[in-house]
Amino acid sequence: MSFPKGFLWGGATAANQFEGGWNIDGKGDSVSDHLTGGTVTSPRVFTNIIQENMYYPSHEAVDFFHRYKEDIALMAEMGFNVFRLSINWTRLFPNGDEDKPNQKGLDFYRSVFEECRKYKIEPLVTISHYELPYHLMEKYNGWTNRKCIDFFVNYCKTLFVEYRDLVKYWLTFNEINSLTMGVGDILAGGIKCEDGAVQGLNASSTQEQLAKRYQALHHQFIASAKAVKLGHEINPQFQIGCMVAGGCIYPYTCNPDDALLAQKDMRMNYFCGDVQVRGEYPYFTQRMFEEYGISVTMEEGDLEILKSGKVDFYSFSYYMSTCATADKEILKTSGNVIMGVKNPHLESSDWGWQIDPKGLRYLLNELYGRYQLPIMVVENGLGAVDTAEADGSIHDGYRIDYLRAHIEQMKEAIKDGVDLIGFTPWGCIDLVSVSTGEMKKRYGFIYVDKDNDGNGTLDRSRKDSFYWYKKVIESNGEVLGN
Ligand code: BG6
Repeated sequence: MSFPKGFLWGGATAANQFEGGWNIDGKGDSVSDHLTGGTVTSPRVFTNIIQENMYYPSHEAVDFFHRYKEDIALMAEMGFNVFRLSINWTRLFPNGDEDKPNQKGLDFYRSVFEECRKYKIEPLVTISHYELPYHLMEKYNGWTNRKCIDFFVNYCKTLFVEYRDLVKYWLTFNEINSLTMGVGDILAGGIKCEDGAVQGLNASSTQEQLAKRYQALHHQFIASAKAVKLGHEINPQFQIGCMVAGGCIYPYTCNPDDALLAQKDMRMNYFCGDVQVRGEYPYFTQRMFEEYGISVTMEEGDLEILKSGKVDFYSFSYYMSTCATADKEILKTSGNVIMGVKNPHLESSDWGWQIDPKGLRYLLNELYGRYQLPIMVVENGLGAVDTAEADGSIHDGYRIDYLRAHIEQMKEAIKDGVDLIGFTPWGCIDLVSVSTGEMKKRYGFIYVDKDNDGNGTLDRSRKDSFYWYKKVIESNGEVLGN
């Protein structure tokens, strides 16, 4: 038993980190366009007004907007049969609350999808990946306002009708559970914040803030369920999935307190998946809300809506694992949205993310056991500094090692019986890091000549991992050596 025939091999990107062209052809600004660059030690800052003396990495990103033909050709050269990308909501609806879309935006994505189809690449489209229209934050306080449901559904309807014959695989919200972890207030929730707020860190977990987050999340669940139902009506062939930030959390010791805490933390993996896969809030919700001291306002009919829009498949991002302990003295580790306690058995990346391929097998089994739905790993990879040699070559053996180890564990999970259908490693072409805003933190098989301050030619070049991944795909995951 190994990777099934027709397994989807490709890579993943998101418009705000990849596309650029932030104000071209009528595009409006999204919340991401208001986040400055940063580093691991100086966090990104959110500004309500775009300031001339500040650098906003999403504005140009790596300019997929003008280079999509070249980029898709490179993906095809590697043998991709799937490409995960997101739609910039504001390219279609500059403010988010208009009735009619911007034709130029529609034309752009049509050309991108047609280019993919030319090479028999399936687009896997994330409808919302940290790209909420800024206007919806400003005027409505983002997803805390129920009106966003209608705006989102109108946006989805436009996509589903327009690209009915070009796109089959859709994801409604990227890492929908980031709102539960206190790092998604701005990017995932569009919840208003002070000018100069620091990304992620401004998200204090006061009762008031928690209430806003879970209210916003409820609206996203309803919006997602409505979109799934509508999508199936428009094209019954559509496969519409959820996308969750996947974390594998082990108890730090065999102390039952640690085990209980790990179990509780794992619920942050399950909470959103349960709603989107099973169409109902999980059994532990009531106690969780009681402990937070919050309640969520639901309208009549909401529970039926959730039931009527269950997803077709489950997808998640996986970068790392963490531990949970009741002991407050133990050292914390960093991560994208998942943070926890350091595991002494694991090494970490240069950005402090713990590398744990076996955790991927563990999590795949947990998720498949729970949901029994086809699964895709739609993000995974190593953020690392790459250095070009004098002849331009880039020897990124460390990235190959990371990916090889994770693919081996996916293979084990398939042998365990998990119905894994696709793998799209993150940032297949170097792009902007979401947590730090850097270019220096690279994930790609393809190098992009651009630095943290925005200097560079934007030229693309193939890294060693490019040639390695090409062989992996050619052999359907059988050849994993160098
Ligand atoms: C995921 C996001 O959390 O992690 C991506 O969906 C992000 O948008 C990825 O880029 C990697 O994180 P970072 O901070 O290294 O870019």
